[in-house]
Amino acid sequence: MSTVLVTGSSTGFGRLIALELAREGHRVFATMREPEGRNAPAAESARAAARAEGRAVEVVALDVTRDDSVSAAVDTILSRAGALDVLVNNAGVACAGLVETFTPAAAQRVFDVNVYGPLRMARAVLPGMRRRGSGLVVYVSSTLGREVTPFLGVYAASKFALEALAESLRYETAPLGVDSVIVQPGTFPTTAILGNLVAPDDAARAEGYGPVAQLPAGLFAGLGELARSGRAPDPQRVADAVAAVVRAPVGSRPARVVVDPNGSGGAARLNALSAEVQSSILAGFGLEALGAVRPAR
Ligand SMILES: NC(=O)c1ccc[n+]([C@@H]2O[C@H](COP(=O)([O-])OP(=O)(O)OC[C@H]3O[C@@H](n4cnc5c(N)ncnc54)[C@H](OP(=O)(O)O)[C@@H]3O)[C@@H](O)[C@H]2O)c1
Repeated sequence: MSTVLVTGSSTGFGRLIALELAREGHRVFATMREPEGRNAPAAESARAAARAEGRAVEVVALDVTRDDSVSAAVDTILSRAGALDVLVNNAGVACAGLVETFTPAAAQRVFDVNVYGPLRMARAVLPGMRRRGSGLVVYVSSTLGREVTPFLGVYAASKFALEALAESLRYETAPLGVDSVIVQPGTFPTTAILGNLVAPDDAARAEGYGPVAQLPAGLFAGLGELARSGRAPDPQRVADAVAAVVRAPVGSRPARVVVDPNGSGGAARLNALSAEVQSSILAGFGLEALGAVRPAR
């Protein structure tokens, strides 16, 4: 069984992933912002849900946008558990609106959580994993890490960036025994993600867009309706997919896992094409061996 750190465990996929991995017998550090303040009820509820099943999750404070918070959390976990086997980079924020209505400062806030957060986390845990010659980093991306939808451009840009970092890290750390897997959920409007949207900070820019400016509201009304309809997919599917990645034997894990029950299959098609293209890119550089994880020493 593994020692696992999950980011963004106060709600949504993160909470479900932490509980599912605890259910499977792993030692789980469910990290979240302000577990003794704003998120105290979420922390207690996660502990109680695990306890009710005869399991445990240990809650540790972690804000992925702060270097000091990341290193304090990783130090705390290493001092309690000795080593960390799995990092699940789940924390994320979404944003919606015409790209032009986001200033670079607002887009930067999104990237700080969705891109630099996972980079900070990876940099904090990879030295230990490399030294031990084993480890797994899971990146919760999105089908929007492959596909582009209008009005979700800034969010998609952050997930495209995340995917490039994660895929490159897969090649770079696999020969050292450290695996990286990208999980791409489709739309699961029953998590808290729609409530936590980062708003555009220059809404006046929408004025010149005429009727196009009204379209984002319609898109989000549709998602709200789906959430209330009872037809929305169960977010537990994402937790199950992450648990399956953790369970899979070293060397057998795919680079990407799509979890998109209602989707068009577009991300899976792009993944297959990209895998082909990437193989020839690596072969062109004589780097075919990268990406094959070496079993633990
Ligand atoms: N739901 C979907 O349709 C969907 C689809 C594709 C991908 N995703 C991805 O799935 C992941 C989880 O999203 P979700 O749907 O479960 O949404 P959610 O319920 O809003 O959960 C997001 C979590 O991230 C945490 N978080 C935000 N900023 C943070 C920070 N600076 N440091 C640490 N934690 C932070 C939030 O914690 P606080 O309580 O502190 O705010 C919350 O626990 C995200 O990466 C998201 O992009 C979601």
